[in-house]
Amino acid sequence: MSAAATALTGKSAERFRFWDSPIGKKAVMAATGFILFGFVTGHMLGNLQIYLGPEKLDAYAEFLQQTKGLLWGARITLLICVALHVTAAIQLALLQKKARPQAYVKKTSAGSSYASRTMYWSGPILLAFIVFHLLHFTTGQAHPDFQHGAVYRNVVTGFQSAPASLFYIVAMLLLGAHLYHGIWSMFQSVGINHPKYTPVFKKLAALMAAVLVGGNVSIPVAVMTGLIR
Ligand code: HEM
Repeated sequence: MSAAATALTGKSAERFRFWDSPIGKKAVMAATGFILFGFVTGHMLGNLQIYLGPEKLDAYAEFLQQTKGLLWGARITLLICVALHVTAAIQLALLQKKARPQAYVKKTSAGSSYASRTMYWSGPILLAFIVFHLLHFTTGQAHPDFQHGAVYRNVVTGFQSAPASLFYIVAMLLLGAHLYHGIWSMFQSVGINHPKYTPVFKKLAALMAAVLVGGNVSIPVAVMTGLIR
C-alpha cells in the first residue's frame, strides 16, 4: 500500500486499498474496457451507415456534431476510460514484474493464448492508431483531402490510399485480438469461470471480436475494391 494510503482512514483508505490491489486494477480495467467496447460497437454500427449512402452517413455525423452534450459527454468519458485503462494496465505489468523480478529463461505459452500475449504490445499500437485516426478523420491533418462535415467523402478519399487502408486493416485485426482477450478477461474478472460455460463464453468473446473486426475491416476493403466510391 502507498504511504498516502496508510495515512488515510475509513472509506478513502478502502478506496486506496482497492485501487492498489491487483484485483482492484483488474476491476477498473474490466469496467473501463466494457465502456470502451460499448463505444467501439456503437461507432462501428454508426460507420456501417456508409453502405446506405452519403446522405445517411453525413446526416448521422451532423446529428452527433449538433448534439453537443452527447458529443462532449462521450469524449470526456472515453478520455477518462482510456487514461484509467492504460494506467491500470501499466501498473499491473509493473506489479507482475516486481512479483517475479527474474524473467523466465525461456518464455512458454502454457496457459496464455496468442491474444493474451499480444495484450501489452497491441495496446500501445492501438493507442497510436487512435491518434492517427483522429488526425485522419476528425481534425484532418493526416488526411490528403479533408473537408469538414463531409464525412462520407473523407472516408472514401482517405481509404483510397492503400497504405492508410492497410494500416487500418492491421490495426483492426490487432483490435480483434485485444478485444477477444479483453472480453474474455472481463468474464473472468466478474467471476464467470465454469467448466461447462467457460468454452461457451470463449466462443462468445471470439464471435463479438470477429463481428467488430469484420464490420470495421469491410469499410476500407469496400473502398479499395470500388464497392463504395
Ligand atoms: C474502419 C474503421 C473505422 C472507421 C471507418 C471510422 C471512422 C470515423 C470517422 C469518419 C470519424 C469522424 C466522425 C465525425 O467527424 O463526425 C471517426 C471518429 C472517431 N473514431 Fe473512428 N472509425 C473507425 C474505427 C475506430 C476505432 C476502432 C476506434 C477506437 C478504437 C475509433 C475511435 C474514434 C474516435 C475516438 C473518434 C472521435 C470522435 C469524436 O470525438 O468526434 N474509430 N471515426
